[in-house]
Amino acid sequence: MRENILKGFKKFFGYSEKVRTFFSPGRVNLIGEHTDYNGGNVFPCALSFGTYGAVALREDKLVRMYSENFTEIGVIEFNLDAIKYEKEHDWVNYPKGVLDVLMKNGYNIERGFDAYIYGNIPNGAGLSSSASLELLIGVMMDELFKLNIDRVQLVKYAQEAENKFVGVNCGIMDQFAIGMGKKAHAILLDCNNLNYSYVPLELKDLILVIGNTNKRRGLADSKYNERRSQCETALSELQKILNIKSLGELSIEEFESNKHLINDEINRKRAKHAVYENQRTLKAKEALNHGDLVTFGKLMNESHISLRDDYEVTGIELDTLVELAWSHEGTLGSRMTGAGFGGCTISLVKKDKVEDFISKVGQGYKEKIGYEASFYIANVGDGTREI
Ligand code: GLA
Repeated sequence: MRENILKGFKKFFGYSEKVRTFFSPGRVNLIGEHTDYNGGNVFPCALSFGTYGAVALREDKLVRMYSENFTEIGVIEFNLDAIKYEKEHDWVNYPKGVLDVLMKNGYNIERGFDAYIYGNIPNGAGLSSSASLELLIGVMMDELFKLNIDRVQLVKYAQEAENKFVGVNCGIMDQFAIGMGKKAHAILLDCNNLNYSYVPLELKDLILVIGNTNKRRGLADSKYNERRSQCETALSELQKILNIKSLGELSIEEFESNKHLINDEINRKRAKHAVYENQRTLKAKEALNHGDLVTFGKLMNESHISLRDDYEVTGIELDTLVELAWSHEGTLGSRMTGAGFGGCTISLVKKDKVEDFISKVGQGYKEKIGYEASFYIANVGDGTREI
């Protein structure tokens, strides 16, 4: 892959001296969905596929970027002294956001650069192609300008870029999983205080299969921000009596005995998901630690039901793919992963049944939805780095 992106760089920019190459993974979340911005726990891992970039510094302040995934957009150019969001610059707004945040925080990015990008994360599939790109640019700048930014701080800057520059109120999970990923490990992250621990992914005779509904969606046009504000409303009503800063601080018992404080029934369901999902995530981590994959699978299933019925972020495509997985004999657990509204599922499947799983679930999906799903084996890799 490194050779390919170096070739791509030469083809578009016409030179090959002083070009450095980087890789940033995608991520998949095992459990703990829509809990990050509610101050709860998440349990994601970085994937072995992701975004590659070749980059070389320039003498002036011009930035030129080209992506093999958006050939129709061509090379986008802008000046470091005049960074602003431009709709027609499309994917380049993510790198721009990261540059803007870094410069506003006083980092000296005094020279422009040429960058050639190629990613093999399916776009709009909910595997965080945008956070992958943000960290790719962040780590490139950190290395090229020797900025020495603490990695967790860089993760926060990438999230800030998405929140403030792109305008998606995402939590910190995606950027954290991508920037801090570790091969063959999942990360239990407490989003209230950013305490984290790596948990070895010892799956014995099982494997993680990602199912892509091929229903695309972008966070910016989804109900993501609406869900977030519904939880904020629920929290502020609970705060009239309870001394809490986030829904993630509540146990199930505390929630059940105080939920009447939330006026609107819909907001109550949203908050219920956030509280129960947080507790499920902690239980799932324990189950994995003890090698109890049956319990882990059951918790995945419960997570999906809660996202479907209480948080209402699934939809016919995700529900179909998950229900077909549930009905397959090789499956221990299956759920939607990521923000929802389309995108991907994750299933825990017996290794020797994977082929049959992909064929039967795939066939059932096509019959019901009318187009095909795609499947990938989730190989868990390291975080963003120079290659
Ligand atoms: C998206 C966001 C994350 C998180 C998930 C849902 O991936 O970027 O911050 O909220 O949705 O768990």
